[in-house]
Amino acid sequence: MSTFQIKNLEEYFQVYRKSVETPELFWAEVAEEHFLWHKRWDKVLSWDFSKPEVKWFEGAKLNITENCLDRHLLNRGDKTAILFEPNDPNEPAQHISYRELYERVNKFANVLKAQGIGKGDRVCIYLPMIPELAISVLACARIGAIHSVVFAGFSSTALATRINDSDCKMVITSDGSYRGGKVIDLKTIVDEALEECSTVETVLVVRRIQAEVPMKEGRDKWLQPLLDEASSECAAEVMDAEDPLFILYTSGSTGRPKGMVHTTAGYMVYTAYTFKNVFQYEEDDIYWCTADIGWITGHSYIVYGPLANGATTLMFEGVPSYPDWGRFWQVVEKHKVTQFYTAPTAIRALARQGMEYVEKYDLSSLKILGTVGEPINDEAWHWYNNHIGKGRCPIVDTWWQTETGGILISPIPFSTPTKPTFATLPLPGVQPVLMDEEGREVQGRSVSGRLAIKFPWPSMARTIWGNHERYRETYFSAFPGKYFTGDGALRDAEGYYRITGRVDDVIIVSGHNLGTAPIEAAINEHPVVAESAIVGFPHEIKGNALYGYVILKPAGEELDPNALRKEINALIAGQIGPIAKLDKIQFVSGLPKTRSGKIMRRILRKIANNDFENLGDISTLLNPEVVEEIIKNRL
Ligand code: WT7
Repeated sequence: MSTFQIKNLEEYFQVYRKSVETPELFWAEVAEEHFLWHKRWDKVLSWDFSKPEVKWFEGAKLNITENCLDRHLLNRGDKTAILFEPNDPNEPAQHISYRELYERVNKFANVLKAQGIGKGDRVCIYLPMIPELAISVLACARIGAIHSVVFAGFSSTALATRINDSDCKMVITSDGSYRGGKVIDLKTIVDEALEECSTVETVLVVRRIQAEVPMKEGRDKWLQPLLDEASSECAAEVMDAEDPLFILYTSGSTGRPKGMVHTTAGYMVYTAYTFKNVFQYEEDDIYWCTADIGWITGHSYIVYGPLANGATTLMFEGVPSYPDWGRFWQVVEKHKVTQFYTAPTAIRALARQGMEYVEKYDLSSLKILGTVGEPINDEAWHWYNNHIGKGRCPIVDTWWQTETGGILISPIPFSTPTKPTFATLPLPGVQPVLMDEEGREVQGRSVSGRLAIKFPWPSMARTIWGNHERYRETYFSAFPGKYFTGDGALRDAEGYYRITGRVDDVIIVSGHNLGTAPIEAAINEHPVVAESAIVGFPHEIKGNALYGYVILKPAGEELDPNALRKEINALIAGQIGPIAKLDKIQFVSGLPKTRSGKIMRRILRKIANNDFENLGDISTLLNPEVVEEIIKNRL
């Protein structure tokens, strides 16, 4: 039995038991057999969730890019590492071999060094899904710089907040991007953001759309001429196991986005191990995850996990609807994709388009299907299973978070029997528990509660950049001694987990994690808005959509409500990004509040969900009369 790959259900149970009974032994064996280390660790694990402090493989020395690149040169030098499929189906795909990727990463790393970037410096990457995105991520890791990738759909304000939060010294961007039929002017967004950022010394600009863009003297530099002069050998910086590898921002229910910090060794071991097992990757497979590298899914399961396994990972620049809704299936056929990993929101949108887009293409190369990002509903699960997997491809419903770094709960395909809408069983090393509202662990089967994890796993985020107290408070204070996920879940009679959704003020829209607070802050910037509250409501494709309740100042009551709605959404798009726009905006005279002044979102949520028959006791509210008005005028 190999320590690295689980092959059947019996093995899964054996390995799982070992990982819980002797976690250090288990992870030491995984780490020992499958990775390149400059020096072995002194201690596998030390942890204290009350501080909280977690260290894996302390004392070990390594560089993650040697594990993703150098060690494959001997046996897989000519194998395709990154298969790039451009936005335009008529533009040829690029097959970047492990050798070529190695050389391009090393050159890029030398450019970073020449521009004054060194170990520990933060580099913000704001790029579309082009090879340079993966290459710049790896180039940072090569020299020990900490990358902070910001999804290129975020606005200039959102970008500036993230650059400033971690004092980035450099931004890597492009002259623009293609997304479906649109061209997006990324460089202008960066220029706007940088008006608010004082720490950025250099902007490297990748050519993608051949646009004329203004270049600021002394700050902005085209990448290509610098690459042309760089050597293709760059010695990897030898990193400590717990040195930060990257920062990735995620929304919280309150306050500013949280810069989750992931460190080197544990993240590498865990993402590589889970990639191998959850996707049962075999040497000639073509693996495709449709996420953007701007999210954790792309970090862990487009870049690091696949490359650490010597896999071929497909990077897609486009969107599912361009040039038509057959695009995903056309790419599957064209590249003979074997594992396909996407989000429920994409599946729901694709399922609406009619079967002709699916039937045109040969999907027989597919072996395994995956989903991530939000609960998958029964209908979408069956459509995916029947029409894409033709009933023969197991679906891995993978539950995890930006904070967890890797997949925590998922079937192992061909081993764990799947069950629609269930993420099923914890992966080795993961110890989930359900907690009740009093903070007691809910024992047994056929129960539900709040999902927490009671033991560390190697890829957990170690802190929030610059704010360890917020890290403690957000994840370790609800249930002392345990990591709280923010999700609700149930455990069925077989011990399978089903994630039921967020129990806090985070709303997942089209698989994007959105905090209510920053959106409300954006709305409140409007000069005639007095106050606002947003909640989620079910949406056929997006899973959830946003419903806003807005109190206007007297000056606003004169204005055209539809024009106001547009202005409010434009503000949100400008402050956060178009993904956070509201589907419905209801103008109200007041918001239901407790006597201490807290907005009762539970009531607003019920109204938005058309479930207002049974609102519970509202007589204790400060202003019960507004509830009736809100119900009467609901949208
Ligand atoms: C939240 C984390 C992990 C990468 C993408 C999202 C929800 C994620 C599932 C799933 C039900 C899921 C949870 C989680 N979620 N996967 N398979 N079933 N819900 O990362 O943006 O950090 O969001 O996404 O609510 O807490 P993220």
